[in-house]
Amino acid sequence: MDKEIRLIGVFDSGIGGLTVFKELNRKLPEMRIVYLGDTARVPYGVKSKETVVRYSMEAARFLTRKGVDLIVVACNTSSALAMDQLRKSFDIPIIGVIEAGARRACGLTRSKRIGVIGTHATVKSEAYRNEIQKIMPGADVRQLACPLFVPLVEEGWTDNKIARNIAEVYLDELKRADVDTLILGCTHYPLLKKTIAEVMGAGVKLIDSAESIADDVWQMLYGSEKREEGGQIKNSLQSFSEPELRFYVTDSTERFIEVGSVFLGFEIRNPQIVDITGE
Ligand code: DGL
Repeated sequence: MDKEIRLIGVFDSGIGGLTVFKELNRKLPEMRIVYLGDTARVPYGVKSKETVVRYSMEAARFLTRKGVDLIVVACNTSSALAMDQLRKSFDIPIIGVIEAGARRACGLTRSKRIGVIGTHATVKSEAYRNEIQKIMPGADVRQLACPLFVPLVEEGWTDNKIARNIAEVYLDELKRADVDTLILGCTHYPLLKKTIAEVMGAGVKLIDSAESIADDVWQMLYGSEKREEGGQIKNSLQSFSEPELRFYVTDSTERFIEVGSVFLGFEIRNPQIVDITGE
């Protein structure tokens, strides 16, 4: 990589991308990360491509103004609809969740029957199908929008009767299609992993896009050094004694702190409200 990565910017339509933030922070604890949640305009998953691209561009511009060296697009909907435009418009590396999840699914499937669940916009974009079939041309990809999963997670109802019933109704189609691998193609779905796993059954491997993208970022930063050093991770980056984490939101911080702290497993301190429109 040409430029040293000192600061990673992560953005999402709202709170859900904290699942990606959490994995990045777990895998790269020495790295400074700033997070932007566009909480004023969430959800992106029901909006048009033009709108999602515009919002994503504004989010990326905001992060570049904060001086980030790498942007991780945590939002599956933005990754599905806006990656081309983002990559064309900025000269820093930009990584999205679609490629990471698709690659991992192709590595794990045996039957080549892969399920993808996500928002309406992600499913409609065909981004996962296209990416999977680029890697594995013969793959049979079944996609399904599960919009009710997002409010369920925001309500904290991830492991109760209602979550299970909704999951059973949604996922029936994919169970009958006999997929052996299922991509959780939305920021919120990793929090429903247990319920989804129970409904799909033990034979189905779940791909958590938060884990996949954190692996990709790690690989990008350290992969070749690790191989060269025979297993020793060479940290060419500046090390921080304390991870320096910053949170920005576009609407009130109360709910972000309340729900986000549950997502992260630690208390979010001092998120700042910012206006990114017209950035
Ligand atoms: N962050 C979105 C995604 O991963 C889910 C919430 C939304 O619709 O904005 O697709």
